[in-house]
Amino acid sequence: MSDASLIEAAAAVRENAHAPYSGFKVGAALRTPSGAIHCGCNVENAAYPEGTCAEAGAIAAMVAAGEYAIAELVVIADSPEPVPPCGGCRQKLREFAVDGDVPVIMATTGGEKRIMSVAELLPGAFGAAHMGKR
Ligand code: THU
Repeated sequence: MSDASLIEAAAAVRENAHAPYSGFKVGAALRTPSGAIHCGCNVENAAYPEGTCAEAGAIAAMVAAGEYAIAELVVIADSPEPVPPCGGCRQKLREFAVDGDVPVIMATTGGEKRIMSVAELLPGAFGAAHMGKR
């Protein structure tokens, strides 16, 4: 699957976002090493802190499908500049990224694109290795 089709998948799921409070719909699509695509959108809540990000939704869909590795992820929003994942989502991405080089493609619905690796987004990340795991 090309970057273009992963961006298309993220743009499509973005339409389903539940964002009545911020009015800011976000979509995310990730590809696993098997080639499968998992998508998520932001899901806000009247109790604001209970809202979840698009990236978290895509990760939850991946895990629910029995997959645990991210090879590439796209996040897309209707924003003047590409939107970077929030701090919490960077840590969630690091948990499942196959390595630090995994590209995170930040796209806008207007066609702008910026790419950073998971390691660039979260340098010095805490991970399983710090607990002697994996
Ligand atoms: N949001 C995401 O879903 N992903 C991001 O990378 C940035 C922010 C959502 C959370 C909230 O529903 C809305 O955007 C405004 O912060």
